[in-house]
Amino acid sequence: MNKDFLRYQAQTTPHPLGLEVESAKGSYIFTTDGKKHLDFVAGVSACSLGHCHPKVVKAIKEQAEKYLHVMVYGEYAQQPAVELTRLLAEQFPKPLEKTYLTNSGTEAIEGALKLARRYTGRAEIIAAHQAYHGNTMGSLSLMDYEERQKPFRPLLGGISFIQFNEEKDLEKITEKTAAVILESIQGGAGFILPKNNYLKKIKQRCEEVGALLILDEIQPGFGRTGKLFGFQNFDMVPDIVALGKGMGGGMPIGAFSASAKMMDSLSDNPKMGHITTFGGNPVIAASALATLKEITSSDLMSESLEKEKLFRKLLVHPLISEVRGMGLMLAIITLSEEIANQLILKCKEKNLILFWLLFEKKAVRITPPLTISEEEIKEGCGIIIDVLEDIIKKQEAVN
Ligand SMILES: Cc1ncc(COP(=O)(O)O)c(C=O)c1O
Repeated sequence: MNKDFLRYQAQTTPHPLGLEVESAKGSYIFTTDGKKHLDFVAGVSACSLGHCHPKVVKAIKEQAEKYLHVMVYGEYAQQPAVELTRLLAEQFPKPLEKTYLTNSGTEAIEGALKLARRYTGRAEIIAAHQAYHGNTMGSLSLMDYEERQKPFRPLLGGISFIQFNEEKDLEKITEKTAAVILESIQGGAGFILPKNNYLKKIKQRCEEVGALLILDEIQPGFGRTGKLFGFQNFDMVPDIVALGKGMGGGMPIGAFSASAKMMDSLSDNPKMGHITTFGGNPVIAASALATLKEITSSDLMSESLEKEKLFRKLLVHPLISEVRGMGLMLAIITLSEEIANQLILKCKEKNLILFWLLFEKKAVRITPPLTISEEEIKEGCGIIIDVLEDIIKKQEAVN
């Protein structure tokens, strides 16, 4: 399969991991060579309930038997999307209430940017250095990374950057700012938490100058940090929230949510201020609804903080300088890029799936399904420590 995968499926990664997937269940992916791989990545934070959670699969099957796509976004009332958005409204702090369902995270960001410009009548957007919000033109414009932006210019105008957690930069938010967009916890930059009430201070500054705060919850969202949304750990409420990844239970989805007053501005001047064919798709929404119900009715959120403690207890080694992040959004920070690369590739050989972060090259991602068991955590961390020991031994042999 790999030969055809490389030949016919467009590639943008020079060295894909290339596991040939046969099936997946719970915390494991099974490959065509008969191997069983423990998954510490969960499709990059997407498979919150593990692979093929029975309630998610049941919801998808039942909906698929009833109807698939019937109409473009927002014309017909379809029960899965209606119930999903209603349950989200029940979970959100006020005034967040209305949700627009998209097909991916990056589309949620595009919608949030449009909403901010439309509602404020202002053009300027402020993003953070080392942020990642997706790869369509608007989201790419928010990524202050010369190598990645240059070949695709001109991008969106009116965008400037601040340093995450840098309070001095608050003064760059002015009466001209439509919105500040930040990840609640910076992902690609190395799972960096906001500190000293940073998000609260940003929100206050936005209020002073009439700007909006958009928080990208696409990675921390849906229970990974012990709360349904990451920002709920930081005692503040943003104006617009972008959602995705773990929301779908393994299906492609995104969403942006705001107050009813704000969101209603997209239905006027122009009418249909944001449209999409497949947003709110009934099968996808059924999967997201089953996922949301399971996360909010079980102990998975609080357990993720207990599981974090176990990871931190087990991941102690001279080649690890720090374990960063929160809940089940963790990154091992190794002593060098080379060690991080070796760790990921050697663990792959030992059937443990790990992955890189976009900007922090010394980091190794640990974002398992929320459903991962203690035994599986111990099994995977054991492999990581064994591999790090091998790396040390090899280094000593060379020296
Ligand atoms: C924080 C964040 N925002 C946005 C996105 C884009 O989401 P998608 O890949 O679904 O377009 C990602 C994806 O990795 C992300 O991590």
